[in-house]
Amino acid sequence: MVKPIIFGGSGGRVLAVKIAKLTGFELGEVVVKSFPDGETYIRFMNDVEGRDVILVNSIHHKPNDILVELLFEIETLKDLGAKRVIGVIPYFAYARQDTRFNPGEVVSFEIVARMLERAGLDEIYTVDLHLHRVRDISEIFKIPAYNLTAVRDLVRYVSKHYKLEKPLIIGPDEEAEQWAKIAAETLGVDYDVLEKKRISAEEVVIEARTVNVRGRDVIIVDDIISTGGTMAEAVKALKSLGARSIIATCTHALLVGEALYRILRAGAVDIVASDTIPSPVSYVSVAPIIANALMRKVGKE
Ligand code: R5P
Repeated sequence: MVKPIIFGGSGGRVLAVKIAKLTGFELGEVVVKSFPDGETYIRFMNDVEGRDVILVNSIHHKPNDILVELLFEIETLKDLGAKRVIGVIPYFAYARQDTRFNPGEVVSFEIVARMLERAGLDEIYTVDLHLHRVRDISEIFKIPAYNLTAVRDLVRYVSKHYKLEKPLIIGPDEEAEQWAKIAAETLGVDYDVLEKKRISAEEVVIEARTVNVRGRDVIIVDDIISTGGTMAEAVKALKSLGARSIIATCTHALLVGEALYRILRAGAVDIVASDTIPSPVSYVSVAPIIANALMRKVGKE
């Protein structure tokens, strides 16, 4: 059997190298450039005919550019004769717009999923996909789709590197309960969630109903830190309730603007994220969980 080949797009270059090392799959080279007018130029430097191709690309920071890049890449790989195109899209943007909140709105999550499938994607692996109203990844994709989690590794990292006494896991809102639960099970501790009301894209209000955090070391677990508003407000609420120390964790560190500053200034001891999106706090790599998943499925067929 010919070994699969891995390409890292502009949102997944480093991760692609790490995954190639762990799996032993060949690392290919894809050139991605912008023309002076902003159009995208892409060229694959390896022969992909008859091979399984793994394309690593997180849709972050310039989500629309990376989305166009992904569509061009998938369709071209198929055109060049790839047997299957397997997308590793660790951060899947647009998942939060999973319904029509107001009349006339675009339901972007659904549309992005359809676009990738229509371009020819055969399989998708992602990490801590923002599943809220859509409960399971199989409800959004028609192709085989795998939603991995970085939460176990994130909280193991925190418990290894910080002196915490029987920490309490907190999700900043109800949507985060799914990740808080995994974190609590991993460390064998309790969890709870706060209540969040979103006022605008940058502003949220967080309330802690019955949560008892007095004197406790708290690990907050969420999928995304974007502006940092949610995390900063959660930290403030927990501090005012008497938490002893607070560490903020997330899988996807978008860290828009002064997000890190906002969270640290609110009183968090530290912020720990994964490298689905490279950032100054991406201490935990998702390469091992992705490599394991790929080797279980792709490497065997
Ligand atoms: C939303 O429901 C997500 O799970 C995150 O809590 C949210 O995207 C974080 O955004 P921000 O950092 O801008 O508050």
